[in-house]
Amino acid sequence: MTHSTAIIVAMQEELEIILQHLEHASTHERAGMQFHQGTFAGKPVVAVICGVGKVNAATCTQILISEFAVSRVINIGIAGGIGPGISPGDVVIADCLVQHDMDIAALGLPPGQIFRMDTLYFPTDPTLRRLAQEAASHITAHNVSTGCIASGDQFIASPEKSRWIHQQFNALACEMESASIAQACYLNNVPVICIRSISDNANDGANMDFEQFMSIAVQNASILLQQMLPACP
Ligand code: ADE
Repeated sequence: MTHSTAIIVAMQEELEIILQHLEHASTHERAGMQFHQGTFAGKPVVAVICGVGKVNAATCTQILISEFAVSRVINIGIAGGIGPGISPGDVVIADCLVQHDMDIAALGLPPGQIFRMDTLYFPTDPTLRRLAQEAASHITAHNVSTGCIASGDQFIASPEKSRWIHQQFNALACEMESASIAQACYLNNVPVICIRSISDNANDGANMDFEQFMSIAVQNASILLQQMLPACP
C-alpha cells in the first residue's frame, strides 16, 4: 500500500478508536507488535501500539518505514506536563522532540546531544503540525499548546527532575517514546507529528493524576484522530 499514514498509539483504547473505523483490515505481527493495516475514511493507514520506551518506539517506527513503506507518522499518547500553565487534560503538539536522558557530558557534549548527530532537536513536519492544530481546535474543554516535548526512559515523578527538563530544553511535556520516533523519522526523511495529552504534572503526585486523566486523554485522542486522518494527504 503506498502513501499510507502510520499511527503509533500508546494505549489499547486509542487503538480501538481506529479499529472501529478500519476497513479492509489485516493484522501483521513483527517484533512482537501487531500492525493493523487498512483504510480509514478512504485513506490507507497502519496502526500499532509500540509499547513503552525509546527502543520499542524506534523499532516500531523503523518497521513502519522499512516494511510498510509509510509516508508519514502520527504519534498520539500521554505525557507529563512540565511547562508553566500546562495542566492534566491539556494537549501539547510537538514542534520538536529531544532525548532528555541522552548524556555524553563526559565527552563535552551538552545534555540531549547524540554523538555525531547534527541536531539534538528533531523537528516535526510543518504540514502535519498545522493539521494537528486544526484538529485540536475541536478540543474545547482543554488548552492546546505547541512546543518541545522531551523523551527519556524514565517515568518522571519529581518536581526537581521535571523543572530540570523544562529549563534545559524549554520542554512543555515529558514522556518516553516520541523523540526516538522522531529520530527514526529524521534518519529516514519521513514526516512526523507527535501529539500528547497531559495525564499528570510529572511531580510527586504523578501516579495519582495518571489514572484520573487517562480517560480524558482517550477522549482527546478520539477527537484528534477522527479530525486528522481524513485530512491527511
Ligand atoms: N507519560 C505520562 N506521564 C509521564 C511522566 N510523568 N513521565 C514520563 N512519561 C509519562
